[in-house]
Amino acid sequence: MSAPNVRISASLLSADFADLGAEVRAAEEAGCDEIHFDVMDGRFVPNLTIGAPVLAAVRRRTRLPISVHMMVVDAAALLEDFAAAGASSYTVHVEACTHLHAALEAIRRCGLRAGVALNPATPPSAIEEALPYADRVLVMTVNPGFGGQQFIPGTLRKIERLRRMLDDARLDVELAVDGGINVDTAPGVVRAGARTLIAGSAIFGHPGGIAAGVRAVREAAASATP
Ligand code: DX5
Ligand code: ZN
Repeated sequence: MSAPNVRISASLLSADFADLGAEVRAAEEAGCDEIHFDVMDGRFVPNLTIGAPVLAAVRRRTRLPISVHMMVVDAAALLEDFAAAGASSYTVHVEACTHLHAALEAIRRCGLRAGVALNPATPPSAIEEALPYADRVLVMTVNPGFGGQQFIPGTLRKIERLRRMLDDARLDVELAVDGGINVDTAPGVVRAGARTLIAGSAIFGHPGGIAAGVRAVREAAASATP
């Protein structure tokens, strides 16, 4: 059996923020499938990052889809700003959503792909009922907030369970993983069923440069055999 098709998403959190345009271009030229844009509010996670005005600037530098990952307490309040700024998908955390179904529907109504993210300690059952309304499930494989952390091995079982859940329900929902994805961890997450690999430090922090980082992660993912 051949290796499954895997999408590589470059997380800007580890890019050089003083040179973001060039970093985004380099990721696109290196063959990334998507740009990943981490939004943190200093409340849902301890860190504080970037918002819709920066997304609009990034949007002007690339044709790739931009996935916005909202690590914030109130993602609903910012949805329209990010849609107007050019987001392609908008992923909210189930832990910050009282009304997940309504949140996903609101995202789709804005014309964006709707994503739901789970922290490492959140079980798949927390999102099961909302899966028909989601276009993407994002499994956090580290605790959100910072780039460059160690992959949590226990999340592999959760990826497997979600893969089975989606396949059994015949739902065409993209299964993404985020955090600690590198040449060592990529084969395992692909084997567990992930099809979008979000990587920050493995791409932007690669000693050989961005193109070498993308190539390395892609080759590692492709080496995973079922
Ligand atoms: C972490 C962010 C990730 C982060 C991944 O909270 O959601 O997107 O940038 O960085 P690495 O790949 O370095 O773990
Ligand atoms: Zn992220």
